Amino acid sequence: MFLTSGGFEGTEVKLSDIPVTKEQVTFKGVLELLVQSVWKYLKFPAIGILLAGAVSGLFQLAAPRLLQQIVDGLTHGTLSLSHGSLLAGLIGLFALIAAFFFVVAEKLSFYIATQVEDIWRYTALLKFYNLPLKWHDRHDSGEVGAKIDRGGGAIYEVIYEIFGQNLIVLFITLFFVIGYTLWAYPLFALIFIVPIPVYILVTKIISTRVVKAQIIINRLDHSASRTFYDGVGNLRYVKTFGKEKEETQAYADIWSKYHTLEYKQQKDRTLQSLLQKIIETLMRAVLLVVGIIAVKNHTLSIGELVLLISYQQLSFSPLEKLTSVFTRLGRVTKRASRLFDLAAETDALADVPDAVSLPLLYKEIRFENVHFEYSKRLHTMHDVSVCFKKGTTTAIVGRSGAGKTTLALLLLRFYDPDKGRITWDDIDLRSAQRASLRKRTALILQDTTLFNRTIAQNISYSNPHAGKKEVERAAKLAHAHEFITQLPKGYRSIVGERGVRLSGGQRQRIAIARSLMSNPDLLVMDEATSHLDSETELAIKEAIQYLHGKHTQVIIAHRLSTVKHADNIILMDKGRVLAQGNHKELLKHPMYKRLCNLQLQK
Ligand SMILES: Nc1ncnc2c1ncn2[C@@H]1O[C@H](COP(=O)(O)OP(=O)(O)OP(=O)(O)O)[C@@H](O)[C@H]1O
Ligand SMILES: [Mg+2]
Repeated sequence: MFLTSGGFEGTEVKLSDIPVTKEQVTFKGVLELLVQSVWKYLKFPAIGILLAGAVSGLFQLAAPRLLQQIVDGLTHGTLSLSHGSLLAGLIGLFALIAAFFFVVAEKLSFYIATQVEDIWRYTALLKFYNLPLKWHDRHDSGEVGAKIDRGGGAIYEVIYEIFGQNLIVLFITLFFVIGYTLWAYPLFALIFIVPIPVYILVTKIISTRVVKAQIIINRLDHSASRTFYDGVGNLRYVKTFGKEKEETQAYADIWSKYHTLEYKQQKDRTLQSLLQKIIETLMRAVLLVVGIIAVKNHTLSIGELVLLISYQQLSFSPLEKLTSVFTRLGRVTKRASRLFDLAAETDALADVPDAVSLPLLYKEIRFENVHFEYSKRLHTMHDVSVCFKKGTTTAIVGRSGAGKTTLALLLLRFYDPDKGRITWDDIDLRSAQRASLRKRTALILQDTTLFNRTIAQNISYSNPHAGKKEVERAAKLAHAHEFITQLPKGYRSIVGERGVRLSGGQRQRIAIARSLMSNPDLLVMDEATSHLDSETELAIKEAIQYLHGKHTQVIIAHRLSTVKHADNIILMDKGRVLAQGNHKELLKHPMYKRLCNLQLQK
């Protein structure tokens, strides 16, 4: 269940190992998952809540019993002043004890709620990071971020505000009240029990209506802001076409629907509390009438009547809460279910049960008749069979859209081939442990981005424990040391979001240093098509030369200087391999020649 997070010593990320399936992501399923999580990971605090609730409930139950003694003592004239004062003092004390344990239960539920929220938030986030690129291609990361964020908050609300604060302790008290009354005054217990099903029915009918309206209200809310931003974003065109009034009208139409629904909701709520008040008043009257009759018949003392009136009051408060709790529960569970929806995604590239750890490359990496498509009918890779021999440098060239980056991504198993296989010394990449593959390889992407951290942290990303010397060594190899030391804060400079405070070439050099740090067995570099000043080009060339022979390199090349040094060049077009060979051999190929003339000699 625990995972040590790299770089932040001493803290452990708690993760859930409760499996979630898509079928479970329903109102009932989500509540079950939450109860299961509480019971599995926070059993003792949960038992603590139940105990604290029980103690609080018992003391709440006991206080009216003392009041009963006072009233009976007074009516019979048997109560001494000292006894009366003692009983009054005890009533106060019991109320304090009940309040104390109520607070204890509240604190515990706060603890449980934050813990469960964290566990699922981190589980969902790790799932998000782990899910294959194919999944990410289809999802907006901002939207997923919002799901995790709001979903976590919703889990907290369900557990703390709804169950913890409002339900558990109150219902334990209700349970005691009814249990005791059933035992001591069965007839009166009926008066307490009768309203319960009526309450539940009213709550169910009305809260279903309120929740349904709420879903439409949420949709209208989104659509109002979309309409607003669409209009505002196209301000000049709104003006050009003279549509100021129409845009305002479209916005107003949505809000008017919104308010109509809100008004309906409000009416439902008013109706609900009115019905509740009617039931309450009615039951109070029934209790009083039956009580007065019983007192007159001497089957009940006045003190006992006072006791029953207090108990009736205690039994109403959880029932009153029930309505608001159910309405909120519906809304909040919907939000929490979005997070569980993410947790239920299946990781198509997860390690197979008997996955092997990849050893150092001994001979070669092979693509055997690889077919791949990003989406149906859009074939990106056709029957590609190529080989990358240990210690060699292979350049991949081809026109834009030829499938070069795709080949690199397949090579590092960011996607799996649809047909054919990719092998690392006869080990199919599909049967290798993903972590071992990542350890043996490094990738520099075409559009390099950096973390918004210091330069040193960026370079040492793969090995946060690396010393200053190692970081500087990598930076020097990547020709980055010089410009870094010229920055006012040197290696401690923060690079800005995605690395915006650096130039494209500087980013590229830091990315090279970052890749060299992990001492990869296989280095795949997708050369940037732009940003390459002669210095960066030199950095790349020297890094390639430094690694030549020691490591296996695959370089998607856009520069002649890179290609010329390659042991093998693969020419690609429209997802196929057109030709292979060294620079001289390939010059016979017309497309390669044209590429050399047009693209590579920029
Ligand atoms: N994530 C994706 N989802 C769907 N299609 C994609 C995706 N990435 C690339 N493609 C498509 O796959 C084809 C190959 O793209 P790829 O990025 O491999 O080309 P490339 O050779 O690297 O081009 P460039 O030289 O411009 O970088 C293109 O037609 C592209 O539109
Ligand atoms: Mg590319």
